Amino acid sequence: MNERRRFLRMIAAGPAGALLLPIFSQTGSQTVMADVECCAASALGKLPENVIYTKDRQGRWKGKAGSHLPIIDVQKSGDKVTLQLQTRHGMSESHYIVRHTVVNGEGQVLGAKTFHWKDEPVSSFEIDVPSGGKAKELFVMSYCNLHDLWLVQTKLEV
Ligand SMILES: [Fe+2]
Repeated sequence: MNERRRFLRMIAAGPAGALLLPIFSQTGSQTVMADVECCAASALGKLPENVIYTKDRQGRWKGKAGSHLPIIDVQKSGDKVTLQLQTRHGMSESHYIVRHTVVNGEGQVLGAKTFHWKDEPVSSFEIDVPSGGKAKELFVMSYCNLHDLWLVQTKLEV
């Protein structure tokens, strides 16, 4: 591996990888892009604590996963799948769930819903059934105005 590639792998493997990806994509080098895309996918697990919270990385909000992680219910109907999301979190003017967002493994936003504090933190999104029997990677997020961003990373298999 040459020095340039080694440098790019090192950068992409860190939290800066996702931020630098658009810059590298403008270089026009297919080889470099392939390297960066490969390593950026693993950057999430290398973020420092207290950036994105998961069941296994609750950081400063330890003990709050149950009331902040979105719960996902999947219903298949024909060539569509309905994702029903719920965050089991109280809703008051000073403390509430702000938003649900669903993003696929390619970075495409499949759906998002913003809540008023008087709403129930429940959302529903219809997406296409994954083709070719392939599982679809999903990033499902719930954002609390006091306890930040919570992520469930899962694979949709129908
Ligand atoms: Fe909260």
